[in-house]
Amino acid sequence: MINALAGDAELGERDFRILAGILRDEARIALSPVKRTLVQSRLGRRLRQHGLGDFGAYVRLVQEDADERRAMVTALTTNHTHFFRERHHFDHFTADVRPMLQQAAGRRSVRLWSAGSSSGEEVYSLAMCLAGSSRPAGEWLANRDVRLLASDVSAPMVTATAAARYSRETVAAVPADYASAWLKRDEGGATISPFLVERVHARMLNLFDAWPMTRKFDVIFCRNVMIYFDDPAKRELELRLVQQLQPGGFLYIGHSERLGGEAEAQMESMGHTIYRKPGTLP
Ligand SMILES: C[S@@+](CC[C@H](N)C(=O)[O-])C[C@H]1O[C@@H](n2cnc3c(N)ncnc32)[C@H](O)[C@@H]1O
Repeated sequence: MINALAGDAELGERDFRILAGILRDEARIALSPVKRTLVQSRLGRRLRQHGLGDFGAYVRLVQEDADERRAMVTALTTNHTHFFRERHHFDHFTADVRPMLQQAAGRRSVRLWSAGSSSGEEVYSLAMCLAGSSRPAGEWLANRDVRLLASDVSAPMVTATAAARYSRETVAAVPADYASAWLKRDEGGATISPFLVERVHARMLNLFDAWPMTRKFDVIFCRNVMIYFDDPAKRELELRLVQQLQPGGFLYIGHSERLGGEAEAQMESMGHTIYRKPGTLP
């Protein structure tokens, strides 16, 4: 009975505004009023799980319980991603950036970051391009301190990244040469080669919290993440990303995103949604 009630529960305007405010405070994600039905359906499952019959009771729970606030953020994030999404970024990285990183790795540690990595397809696409399109091509990484950070606010997405296992449909987007070098196929899909997985560190991180990383990055992918934030949040995050880059480092953002304000002024455009911090990589 409770389940039936929760399934039917309607999210009124007032409760929507309160929940949207909590989501903004927690993850800086901005929800426009047109998202009310979507939020109602995504949170219906949370109500059922707690045996709650209406959204008023759910609002009270979220206000009191930090774990439920995190679960709500997870339920309301959009995690759509795929391997080699926005292919031109990977082509640019492979042709122009990889050779510089190979040289830099001969003298120092090299760091790459997929910020808002969802289930890991982005970071493993990047890892494949970094390694190369065959096993022998990837040998250069063997004695180098090269690591990729994959971070997301959603715990299930971080778990999926660490598991590095994908369905057959999902890995169909991996180009054939990379797939034969770096995927181990099984019945339902494929697992990423341990050679790459051990270089990827999957971590939970809300991009608006303090960042534990002290080192600067050579490359940051932060794609299709900022679209969910309001303008002040975007400007704040862009600037922090720029500050976290090495001189000469590269920032890739999503196809419908643009840098603005101070971050834009500090970066050189290298083509559509690709930016470089002035200087030379150390
Ligand atoms: C649409 S996915 C993009 C995935 C990948 N970057 C791509 O372009 O394919 C957006 C990701 O950003 C994450 N995200 C949203 N707000 C975040 C925040 N405040 N901190 C960290 N990650 C966040 C979501 O959990 C989601 O996995």
